[in-house]
Amino acid sequence: MPIASTVPRDTSPRSTSPSSAARAEQLIAASQRHTHDPFQEIEWNIPIDDSAYHLPPEMLALYGTAVWEQMTERERIAYSRHETAAMFAAGIWFENALMQIVLRHLTEIDVTDPTHRYLLIEVADECRHSAMFGEYIRRAGTPSYRPDRPVIIDDTHSGRLLSYLLILAIEELLDFANRAAMRDDRVHVVARQISRLHVLEEARHVSFAKSYLAETWPTLCDEERETVRGAAAVLVADVVSLSLNPDVFTHLGIDDGAEIALHNPYHRSNVVDGLTKLTTFLTELGVIDDAEPWIELGLVRPADADR
Ligand SMILES: [Fe+2]
Ligand SMILES: [Fe+2]
Repeated sequence: MPIASTVPRDTSPRSTSPSSAARAEQLIAASQRHTHDPFQEIEWNIPIDDSAYHLPPEMLALYGTAVWEQMTERERIAYSRHETAAMFAAGIWFENALMQIVLRHLTEIDVTDPTHRYLLIEVADECRHSAMFGEYIRRAGTPSYRPDRPVIIDDTHSGRLLSYLLILAIEELLDFANRAAMRDDRVHVVARQISRLHVLEEARHVSFAKSYLAETWPTLCDEERETVRGAAAVLVADVVSLSLNPDVFTHLGIDDGAEIALHNPYHRSNVVDGLTKLTTFLTELGVIDDAEPWIELGLVRPADADR
């Protein structure tokens, strides 16, 4: 029975560069210092209820709109629980995609290379994270929200680079929301503990994705670079759209909620701020050489384009 139907290029296992191997060794050491079991470290015995917000109010997509102003405090908190469950559900979808990308990448790396071992650790991290997010949703009493689209993986040279670019986009967006939540004492303790654990472990994933991109981008030919430049902004915008689930508003009976959120200047500003580390990095690397498409899609502020 065939288990792989297409081989787009020479994918025989090979070792990564000495600098990649050294970086992988560092990330393995960091993983040994900080690996967290959410089923030991999160206080799951505390009810996931509406005694507190589940994200800082300013991070919620409807914050500051007329709909928000009409909500009672109780309704705002319940809405925050649903939006957090939807965000964690998107996290599970993203982590599933990441694992598929990484597992396919692994088949091309020599098993004795430290990068092989590190990427297996990254997959193990994501397994624990997705189980943690699932446990929150199970206990939060919300529907099982999920993004409604398939994962598509492109194993070509430019496709792999785009995959890691999108992984970095997702990790930076989640990191932005997680950091705001973990420091805010208005936020429910379980949501804060989940956010803190995720920030601690994602730091090394961000590090790997950045060094992979920095090392791989110069190896692309001009045609491959144009492919990446042409697709990156649209694909990042697609990732951003996945983090706003219209089912939350349908379930809560908020008419046109997704549309209102999409046009909410507070929400749009949070998206840009959440992507700033990514867009700054891509500009420095040369992946973004024309900010216009990024500005048009609301991913970069015009005033920030020259930074
Ligand atoms: Fe994760
Ligand atoms: Fe990750």
